[in-house]
This record gives sequence, structure tokens and C-alpha cells, in this order.
Amino acid sequence: MKKIIVTGGAGFIGSHTVVELAAAGFTPVIVDNFSNSDRSALEGLKKIIGSEPVCYAIDGNDYAAMEEMFRKEGDVVGAIHFAAYKAVGESVQKPIDYFRNNLNSLLVLMDLMVKYKAPNLVFSSSCTVYGQPEKLPVNEQSPILPAQSPYGSTKQICEEIIKQTTSVKQPLKAISLRYFNPIGAHPSANIGELPIGTPNNLVPFITQSAVGLRPPVTVFGNDYNTPDGSCVRDYIHVVDLAKAHVKALQLLDKAEGTTYYDVFNVGTGRGNTVLEVIKAFEEATGKKLGYKIGPRRSGDVEKIYAEVEKSRDGLGWQAELSLQDGLRDAWRWQQKLTNNA
Ligand code: WQD
Repeated sequence: MKKIIVTGGAGFIGSHTVVELAAAGFTPVIVDNFSNSDRSALEGLKKIIGSEPVCYAIDGNDYAAMEEMFRKEGDVVGAIHFAAYKAVGESVQKPIDYFRNNLNSLLVLMDLMVKYKAPNLVFSSSCTVYGQPEKLPVNEQSPILPAQSPYGSTKQICEEIIKQTTSVKQPLKAISLRYFNPIGAHPSANIGELPIGTPNNLVPFITQSAVGLRPPVTVFGNDYNTPDGSCVRDYIHVVDLAKAHVKALQLLDKAEGTTYYDVFNVGTGRGNTVLEVIKAFEEATGKKLGYKIGPRRSGDVEKIYAEVEKSRDGLGWQAELSLQDGLRDAWRWQQKLTNNA
């Protein structure tokens, strides 16, 4: 049973990854300061995997607390680093907080991974590093364009830190996974996304709107150069995304030699417009959704979707679930939250 630290393991993507790690025979050890997650995720995890995972309620920036955890756990073989601030708009208002938190927690983790010989790191990156790519679908060789926000900068800088750190011979190998747009929830509805306040992301806004918590969805622009004028994204089911992390760890574990770094897109390879998502939600749930067309949101790219050949061939991973599956599961989770409220 190989022990893996999962920073941010009580969060949206982290908790789903804990499920897949356990299913694949790893022992996940959660590190989470619950600044943007809830302890109820641990109860949800218990329902799915049969026992509550080990969890340290500590801040990944706290070197002493993190070292104590490494020492106590003893035989850690790697880490998946999810814990980070992730609100694009907020990062523009609070750049220092974003740089300090997102860069420092990575440095603390890598330092301790080297020190305690836990060599396998999977980093939670984002397709935001590509900006608006010239060619679609976007592949891993596409240029990294200037970031649109401090949040985006932190993902670019963290990738660079990892690349340079893993190029020297020491016990550290790494993979950055560039996520496209994660949606959905575990089909059991025991874990899912818990946005604080008004959701910025499309799918949680849709589900909250559908239960009457929010007004009708505003479509941010219908004058883009896309089939129906609304923006195109690659929506990936969070359970598929979680499975990609297990594949990445298995690849790192097998990687020969003392240096290894690579990046993989994690998307479906398909792009859907905002209006298509609204229609697919209505089809998948039988729920009618009100919406209106509003102005463009500043900073939005027009269209982006993944080229998936590298992750298919290199990681041995591909998305299995559809947009409809993601919307159905997000809706099931929303209904459960509403019924328990
Ligand atoms: C999707 C589409 C909006 C809300 C962001 C981050 C990215 C990543 C995921 C996170 C866009 C449109 C949205 C609404 C709308 N990182 N939209 N009405 O912007 O692609 O990516 O989240 O941790 O780095 O930038 O995702 O869900 O906000 O938007 O029309 O009320 O839905 O314009 O086209 P985005 P999103």
C-alpha cells in the first residue's frame, strides 16, 4: 500500500482523487487547511471508500507542521499537490497572497519530498497556461503565453520551478497535469464541489440557478467566433480527471533514472459552447433552465479544447464520461446539498 500525500485532498478535485487512489491500492494521506473546503468531504469519503482517510488539518506553507507530518507518516512515496488559491478574479486583487501561497506551498512540499525521499510529484496545473492558443486543439508543445492573471502566473511559475528542480539528479520526479474545465461530482453524490459564495464557474452556477438559489444564468457573450457565438471549453468529468492522477503516479513510479518531468493535457478533446452546455443540462436532467445573454467577461479566451493524444499514449488515460454524465452528476450533487440544507 503505497502512501501518497494529497494536499488539498478535501477539496473538489482532491477528494475525487482520494477515491481513485484508494481504489487503485494507494493509501492517501490528506493535508488540508480547510480554507476552501469542508470537513464534510471526509464523511463523504468514508461512505465511498469504507473508512475515513488520514487527514492532517495543517497549512502546506507551515514547514514545521509539514515536516512533522512527513516524519510521522514515514514511508511516503509521493505527493499530489492540489492545495492552492484558485479564484482568477480574486488573484488580480490579491497578487501577493496568491504568489506567496501558491509558490511557497510548492517549495515547502518539494523540499520535504527530497529530504524524506518521497520522489513522485503530480502537480495540479491548468490549461490557462496556454492563454488563447493559435491552433486548436491545443497540445503540450504549444507556447506558454503571458498569463492573464496572477493565478495563471502561479501555475506557469510552479511548472517552471518543478521543471528546473527535477532536471538535477535528486530524488524527485514530476508530472504536471494541465486540467481543462472540471465538472460533475462522484456518481454516489457523497462528494462534490462546494463553492463559497456566488460561483464563478459555469456548471455550479447552472445547478444553483436550477434550484432557485441564483438568478437565471448569464451567458457571457454571444458574439465570439464560435458556432453559436458563445465561448468554447473542454468540460472534463472530475472522476475521469481524478483517474488521470493515478495514471500519472503509476508512470512516475515506473520512470527509470533519477530525472523525469513531463506535462500532459487532461481534457476530453471535445469543445462545447456555453449554450450547448445549457442545452445538455436540460437534456440530462429534464430541468428547464432560464438564461440571458450578457456582455463578454473580461479575460475570457474565445475557445480552447485539448489535444489528447499525448495523455492517451503516454499516460494510458482517456476520458470515458460525457458532458451529459458530468451535468447529471453535478445536478445530483446539487439536489443532495439542497435537500440537506
Ligand atoms: C466557462 C465558460 C465563461 C459563468 C476557469 C479558470 C481556469 C480553471 C477553471 C481553476 C466561459 C462562461 C461562466 C457564467 C458564463 N481553473 N460562463 N456564465 O473561465 O473557462 O476557467 O475555471 O481553478 O483557470 O480560468 O471556467 O466555468 O468560469 O467558464 O457564460 O455565469 O462559461 O465565459 O466561457 P473558465 P468558467
